[in-house]
Amino acid sequence: MRTEKLLTPGPVCLHPAARRALAGPQLHHRSRPAEELLASLRKNVSAVAGTEGETVVLTGSGTAAMVALVSGLFAPGARVWVPIAGKFSERWAEIAASAGLEPLVSEYDWGQTVSPADVPTGIAGALLTHSETSTGVLQPLAELARAVRERNPGALVVADAVTSFLLSELRLDDWQVDAAAIGSQKGLMSPPGLGLAVLGPRALAALRPSGYYLNLERELRAQRAGQTAYTPAINLVAAAAAVLEEVVNDGVEAHLKGKLYQNDRFYEIGQRVGLEPVPQEEGARSPATAAFYLPPGAKAAAVSEPMLERGWRIAGGQGPLKGRIFRISAMGYLEEAELERAYADFAEVMSLL
Ligand SMILES: Cc1ncc(COP(=O)(O)O)c(C=O)c1O
Repeated sequence: MRTEKLLTPGPVCLHPAARRALAGPQLHHRSRPAEELLASLRKNVSAVAGTEGETVVLTGSGTAAMVALVSGLFAPGARVWVPIAGKFSERWAEIAASAGLEPLVSEYDWGQTVSPADVPTGIAGALLTHSETSTGVLQPLAELARAVRERNPGALVVADAVTSFLLSELRLDDWQVDAAAIGSQKGLMSPPGLGLAVLGPRALAALRPSGYYLNLERELRAQRAGQTAYTPAINLVAAAAAVLEEVVNDGVEAHLKGKLYQNDRFYEIGQRVGLEPVPQEEGARSPATAAFYLPPGAKAAAVSEPMLERGWRIAGGQGPLKGRIFRISAMGYLEEAELERAYADFAEVMSLL
């Protein structure tokens, strides 16, 4: 099998701490070391997300955390605002509808920034997407949450932070964001398979039992006692806990600065050859991924194939942007020399376009 390194916006190249944890012997999930790893992951995720609340670790991908939050925080029939500006905000609306909620949708062009002016009144909550990975846009989460709460004081604000956690600043409590969904295969530089549901103080108070497997209320009770309701993907808990411990010890702020710089380098290279970024505003670029429109007449393979020949996998577009854009991401772990090689190869491929 040809080896390839991932410059995709998830999954990503693993952090060495994750690789080391995965190479260890199989842990038993009811053992003391497993309890400690779960506690460490829960504590550090809450702290990095900026909440005094708690984190529930779920076995499943990021979408599992989104589903669990929607059904655990809202009763069927609740009206929730969902601004759609990409694939993942669209997913919020689909999850809300499937849980019997009444999604009140505001539609934007993909690549656009959501406007706080559009926040409606009369809603029980808002399902927002912080970093919209399908377009590379970092949405103004703090401003949106503020507008939601000003117009709807009792509303709960729930954010998809799947590609903003450990990539962009997150201050849930300060921003009045009540809950967030995270996945293990993005900023955490771990394998796919964990969904993390972060619950701020108001979300903890509002939590209701709902569903069976993804029942956040039941999981929270188990996890407060150092357990999980069912057998968790404990190997992934070990990997993610180890990575986060290391990043926290080294300093989250410096880590975020590094990720922003690494992503900006891709933008610099693409723009040098005249490519148009998908995010319509320069200040709205997510550090999770660079996203560019393909030049007129060019197919996505004109970028992805020569990159793959050089050992790098990148991603195309999704939904209406399929075949029109490509995405390249430095979200994962790469040694500096490897990353420099990635930039050099990308610059070379760009010069061939
Ligand atoms: C912003 C965003 N939300 C949600 C998801 C869904 O996560 P998963 O594929 O882990 O279920 C992704 C994955 O790409 C994402 O980028």
